[in-house]
Amino acid sequence: MERDVIIACDFANKEDLFNFLKPFKGLNPYLKIGMELFYSAGPEMIKELKELGFKIFLDLKLCDIPNTVEKAMRNIAKLGVDITNVHASGGIKMMEAAKRGLEGTNTKLIAVTILTSLDDEALKNELDIVKPVKEVVLDYATNAKKAGLDGIVCSPLEANIAKKLNLISVTPGIRLAGDAKGDQKRVTTPNDAYNLGSTYIVVGRSITASLNPVEQYLRCVKEFKNE
Ligand code: C5P
Repeated sequence: MERDVIIACDFANKEDLFNFLKPFKGLNPYLKIGMELFYSAGPEMIKELKELGFKIFLDLKLCDIPNTVEKAMRNIAKLGVDITNVHASGGIKMMEAAKRGLEGTNTKLIAVTILTSLDDEALKNELDIVKPVKEVVLDYATNAKKAGLDGIVCSPLEANIAKKLNLISVTPGIRLAGDAKGDQKRVTTPNDAYNLGSTYIVVGRSITASLNPVEQYLRCVKEFKNE
């Protein structure tokens, strides 16, 4: 099974990203580009990064009616990214439409189950969902499987759900031992994530906010690949 460390590139603009990447020359780490950077630097930057040889997880979390998502995915398909995603809460038909939009590419499609910023209380009081998060994650992951998706975004603590369904798990909420948690509630070390069976770990601030990002990245790789 392919396992890798993905760096969450939560930068405001392209200049900041390229400055950050300079010391990584030759390493070509897997990058996660989210809404903040995409809305600032656009599809051209993604094409440029692909030409430079980076693997890209384009984390745009699409959620709209199936027709709109399918057409948006047709445009994402042209970028040649390695992974992209939708919200599972958009429903099975929407996920199927997203997959159709990516037809003819090697782009893996994964679904966000429940955002880690939501807990049981918020589901009940704000979204009128009475089931606990864990059960909803299982239901949404099952829907993603039915729609033919490749995997889910979830906590490493839920990676076993993905495994049971034969889906890949892309898991954020990672901290190296001793690093600040920030706004993440439940954090896991790369080594724990390895033991819990995550396919990919997504690491942001433990690498990007460090004084020596390359060293931190290599620590994550070593721990996660159990080398
Ligand atoms: O800095 P940190 O390691 O917390 O960054 C985690 C990254 O993963 C961020 O880009 C965040 O948006 C993303 N993410 C997350 N939890 C989710 C989905 C995505 O932390 N459920």
